[in-house]
Amino acid sequence: MTSAEKATPGPDDLPVLELESVSASYGQTPVLRELNLSVSPGTVVALLGPNGIGKTTTLRVAAGLLSPDRGRVMVGGQDLTRLAPNKRAAAGLCLIPEGRGIFRGLTVAENLRLHAPKGMDSGAATEIAVDAFPVLGKRLSQLAGKMSGGEQQMLALARAYVCQPKVVLLDEVSMGLSPLLVDQVFDAIKRLAAAGIALLIVEQYVNRAMAIADKVVLLGKGEIAFVGPPSDLDQDRLVEHYLGSDKPQPLEEAVLIPSRVGDENGVGDAGDAPVGRIPDRRHRR
Ligand SMILES: Nc1ncnc2c1ncn2[C@@H]1O[C@H](COP(=O)(O)OP(=O)(O)OP(=O)(O)O)[C@@H](O)[C@H]1O
Ligand SMILES: [Mg+2]
Repeated sequence: MTSAEKATPGPDDLPVLELESVSASYGQTPVLRELNLSVSPGTVVALLGPNGIGKTTTLRVAAGLLSPDRGRVMVGGQDLTRLAPNKRAAAGLCLIPEGRGIFRGLTVAENLRLHAPKGMDSGAATEIAVDAFPVLGKRLSQLAGKMSGGEQQMLALARAYVCQPKVVLLDEVSMGLSPLLVDQVFDAIKRLAAAGIALLIVEQYVNRAMAIADKVVLLGKGEIAFVGPPSDLDQDRLVEHYLGSDKPQPLEEAVLIPSRVGDENGVGDAGDAPVGRIPDRRHRR
């Protein structure tokens, strides 16, 4: 490979985030067993799997919100396993959690200021955020909790730009957004990857996630069911994996229901509907 080709980060580059043989549990209940996962700079890894399988748990372990029972979390070759979440953030790891993770009682400008890394003044943080999401420019003095759901999501995502991270972990950030805003979220993910950032994304829009992913990691119970490029993952196998269950259920229950957003507008055909939103199965294993 020529040096010019090598200048573009890709899946074959040394990983910036590595989970090595990570096992994690809640009390006596094991969730992750010997999980290995890596993300290289400038690439998107989609972490997929049915409800309750351990996707959020994986991100929580990576971000330091849950200590693994065994295994290591490495960022840029450095072992961060015992480091507190704020120290991991300083080391370049940014988690955008499910449910937005913004300070609703603070203004947009205050939220951005809080996420500015050491040495970055608040003006620069605002400029970066507004450049990424122009709508925030008109909302700087507004309380974050008083913005629309989509605007709040943009603010949450702006953190991924302001923190200047090496790795961004995104947990279902398109949840509850209109189709237009979902487009914007996916555009933002692509822009972050193009800027050389490593992304580990959990997404309900499985097909859309696969369309932008360089690699898919499909979680099964107690094992990785598939790891590789999305083109190698058979669609039937994927659907079967989501619907196939250790708890067999009547077929009529096992429907792929469209997203909460846009349902009333008839938006969300089977092609881009969130997969695996099966009523009553959430967190029941
Ligand atoms: N704080 C917690 N305490 C105890 N058990 C938990 C906790 N959080 C999650 N679990 C359990 O751990 C398992 C994995 O949960 P996790 O949230 O990682 O799943 P997920 O793949 O993100 O699911 P979803 O697609 O529904 O978000 C589930 O069985 C869940 O009930
Ligand atoms: Mg989750």
